[in-house]
Order: sequence, then C-alpha cells, then structure tokens
Amino acid sequence: MKDNILEIKNLSVGFNIEINNVEKFFYALNSVNLSFERNKIHALAGESGCGKSVLINTILKLLPKNAVIKSGKIVFNNDNILNLKDKEFRKIRGKKISLIPQDPFMSLNPLYTVENQMLEVFSSKTKGNIEKIKWALNEVRIKNIDNVLKSYPHELSGGMKQRVIIAMSLVQDSELILADEPTTALDVSVSNSILNLLLDLKDKGKTIILITHDLSIVSNYCDTTSIMYLGDIVEGANSIELFKKPMHPYTKALLNALPTKRGKKLENIKGQISPITDIIIGCKFHPRCNYEMEICKNQKPELCGADCHLVSCWLYQKK
Ligand SMILES: Nc1ncnc2c1ncn2[C@@H]1O[C@H](COP(=O)(O)OP(=O)(O)O)[C@@H](O)[C@H]1O
Ligand code: SF4
Ligand SMILES: [Mg+2]
Repeated sequence: MKDNILEIKNLSVGFNIEINNVEKFFYALNSVNLSFERNKIHALAGESGCGKSVLINTILKLLPKNAVIKSGKIVFNNDNILNLKDKEFRKIRGKKISLIPQDPFMSLNPLYTVENQMLEVFSSKTKGNIEKIKWALNEVRIKNIDNVLKSYPHELSGGMKQRVIIAMSLVQDSELILADEPTTALDVSVSNSILNLLLDLKDKGKTIILITHDLSIVSNYCDTTSIMYLGDIVEGANSIELFKKPMHPYTKALLNALPTKRGKKLENIKGQISPITDIIIGCKFHPRCNYEMEICKNQKPELCGADCHLVSCWLYQKK
C-alpha cells in the first residue's frame, strides 16, 4: 500500500460573490479527490484561474473571508486538518507544512533581516540555532552566507529570496512543501536552479506539491501530474505516462501549446478559461473542446480509469 502523506477527499470549496447587489455562491473546487505519496514531487497543473491556489490555500487554511468549504476532508498524516482548531493548526502551518509562494516577498517580513526571520523559527538565539540556519542556507547553495544573514528582503534578488524561503522550510524540517508557481517570477536560469533545489528536498525525504501552469517544467521534475480544469481534476497519472499517453483533450491541448521543435508552430488552446460565475453544464471543457459530443454538453464525465491513470472524459467512458 502507498504511504500517502496527504489525502484530499471529496473537497468542494467556493466563494460568496456579490452580483447586482445579490450575494451568490459559486464553486471553485468541485469534489476534488487527490492523494499524494510521501517523498515524491507531485505536479498540479492547469491554466490560470483553474483553482490551483484555492486548493493550496484550503490546505493551509488561508482562504479569504468570502470562501466556504462545502464538503470534504484533508487528511495530513492521518488527521483531518479541516477539523483542527486554529491554535492546533498553527503547529502545522509553516512548520510541518510549508509554502513556497509565487512572490517570495509576500512571505518575508520587510522589517527583519534574514537572520532574524530565520531565528523566529526558534525560541532563542543560540550558537546551535545559528549553525542550523547557516547549514540550511548552505544546503540551498547560498555562497556569501554572512552577508545574506545581515540583509533585508529588499536587498536580495527574487531567486535569492526563494532560496531563503526554501532554507526556512529546511530549518523547520517541514515534511510537506507546497510550492505555488515558485519560479513564475524568475528568469529561466534562476528558475532551473530553484527547481533543482526541489529535487534536493525530495532527496532529503520531503514531499513537494508543485503548482504550475507550465507543463514544460513538469516532466523533468515531477513524479506524478494532476491536471486541473475549472475546479475539477480532469486527468492524473505518473508524469512519464501522462506525457507519453495524454488522454484528456485539455491535457493534449496543454502539451500541444508547449514549445518543442524549432520552427514548429505552437497551437493555442481554443477560447479562454471561464470565470467561476459562468455555470457550465456537462463537461466544463466542452466549449473549448475539439472532440465535443452531444453528451458532453449535458452530463459531466466521472474521473475514472485503471493502472493509476485517471481521466474524466466521455471519449473513454461508456455513455
Ligand atoms: N476571494 C475570491 N473571491 C471570488 N473568487 C475568487 C476568490 N479567489 C479566487 N477566486 C476565483 O477562483 C478561481 C480559481 O482561482 P485560483 O485558485 O487563484 O486559480 P489559479 O491559482 O489556478 O490561477 C478563479 O476563477 C478566481 O477568480
Ligand atoms: S467529455 Fe467531451 S467535451 Fe469534455 S473533454 Fe471529453 S470529449 Fe471533450
Ligand atoms: Mg494561483
């Protein structure tokens, strides 16, 4: 049996949104089921607006006030964290589960030096704690450690700030690291070095969920990939299988939109992702799908399959 660090069961989350002075509820996640095996890198991919950050913020209990969790469980190391009181969850968030955000500046206190931010993890400034911080900064391949320790966040580059945040998760000895588009704000060479650090974290026994809209980074770094579309998981498999034999038309479209061979024209995905306030009956991808059938407009396909390759599409299901 697989050793899952995190299991998401039947999770539905949405927002109360005011339209024409009337508040209505709209789903951003629909009965999401996902399991994450320990000591792997898992990708969660899809275009902007498909619900990736809502999922991460639900796991971290950082949802905004207008959000409502309608159903589901999030089981972390056998505990449903949705049942934990805020005080209990504070022992987990930022400690056992940590976040590498898209914008590292948001996670660092602009008024504290790197040393003081990292010391916040401990209750005191001892020689041993400073040594542990230096060890973590060395692990994320920061060279001029003494200078970086004295620096304020605004004095560091984007890549350096991400390294500091990853070092903090090492100091905290987090088991699960949620990386929400951690390289989107960085240029390519820095981005690759940060992704290589995620591989190092895996070698240290950590589990990583890498959120991305860019499938080109997934095949090199992630063991499994789940594709999300408008709050639904539409396909999931190990990454090699998914790249070799993509099944869902949305996954195929995302892969066809990747730059591969020189001179090959990139195919744009037809149309645009809709806002959650647009209610789409049937398969949510049908307005954009080249394989759309009559049933797709009326009935939503289930996520099903075999050999750990799951897909929700009428092309593969009995009607
Ligand atoms: N506080 C909010 N109120 C209303 N809608 C929201 C709120 N936060 C996110 N959404 C909507 O939920 C959907 C999913 O958003 P998000 O998870 O941020 O997408 P992604 O991270 O995949 O780009 C989007 O349509 C977004 O506009
Ligand atoms: S269910 Fe129909 S519309 Fe949806 S992806 Fe499959 S073929 Fe396309
Ligand atoms: Mg996001």
